[in-house]
Amino acid sequence: MQYRRIGILTSGGDAPGMNAAIRAITCVALAQGVEVMGIYDGYAGLLGGEMKLFCERDVADAESRGGTLLYSARCDAFRAASGVAQGVAMCRQNQIDGLVVIGGDGTLRGAAALCAAGVPCVGIPASIDNDIVATEQCIGFDSAVNTAIRMIDCLKDTSESHARCSLCEVMGRGCGEIALATGIAVGAIGIAIPEFPFDTQALLARLVQTRRAGKRELLVVVAEGVREGNTRFSDSLAATIAAQGIETRTTVLGHVVRGGAPSAADRLLGARMGRYAVELLLAGKQNLVVGIRQGSLCITDMETAQTWDRAYRACLPLLCEGVGEAHQVRARILRTKQAYRLGELLARA
Ligand code: F6P
Repeated sequence: MQYRRIGILTSGGDAPGMNAAIRAITCVALAQGVEVMGIYDGYAGLLGGEMKLFCERDVADAESRGGTLLYSARCDAFRAASGVAQGVAMCRQNQIDGLVVIGGDGTLRGAAALCAAGVPCVGIPASIDNDIVATEQCIGFDSAVNTAIRMIDCLKDTSESHARCSLCEVMGRGCGEIALATGIAVGAIGIAIPEFPFDTQALLARLVQTRRAGKRELLVVVAEGVREGNTRFSDSLAATIAAQGIETRTTVLGHVVRGGAPSAADRLLGARMGRYAVELLLAGKQNLVVGIRQGSLCITDMETAQTWDRAYRACLPLLCEGVGEAHQVRARILRTKQAYRLGELLARA
């Protein structure tokens, strides 16, 4: 198929580095003589016709800016078959021959539906949570971890002055990678993530012992996705620690870690993935998610990517044992396990 015009959209939670991908997609496509339609507000904007033709000026300096210049929105209408049909109609009406979509698992699900309905799509995984199994690194994860580290370094200063325990909750709904990477990097004494059961008694013993050994500042990092029924685990854990006579303060970093200038790694990742996505589309490929595996670009078909994500989510309560054949899921779980063990090991130091 000869492409004359492609569309780009970003959907779901924004992630630093999305703009670098948008810029790369635009510049690479225009250099091939293919027009680029920037679609605003994700699938909602596609349905509503919020779009404009892009030139290089529209993406100038985008690589250094956080957020997404195409904006983002969650779109319930697009979950229904009628929404997808309307999306296809809007692509036809606006002469969009194919789409590059940038976002998390919901975004990729939408792209798979569009592909099935006849609009070629290639997906780029962007999610600060790093919760897409088809890639070792999603756009936004590295920046989010760097921001969390900067914030927690600030917390540690004041915790040291006041001899307090800081309990810091970071984003990560079904995947604790932000908490894990951040916790290891800031020397947390405990890290709680949804993937593994948390041993509160072991943490308390470690906190008491560390305090007795003379350490003033104590830090625990908890992923948002660790819950106790309907309540945040970080709230009950803070009370439990305080009951040991250790003055404790809770900080929820929340959406802060989703903003800010992208790290060098995310700018480069966005540029690499953006370029690759356009090359794939123009080469007649579709229904694919691009990713990074062992440092190299890779592709996975969208259905397989979704199956892996479902398998990962399903095995969270099972402590990630016996995952079956999906070797990517297994590889991811092993990486998470190794990181978790490293976190535990360093917490004893
Ligand atoms: O983008 C992922 C994520 O940041 C999760 O970590 C978090 O639970 C969720 O998005 C928050 O979504 P919203 O911005 O819609 O509140």
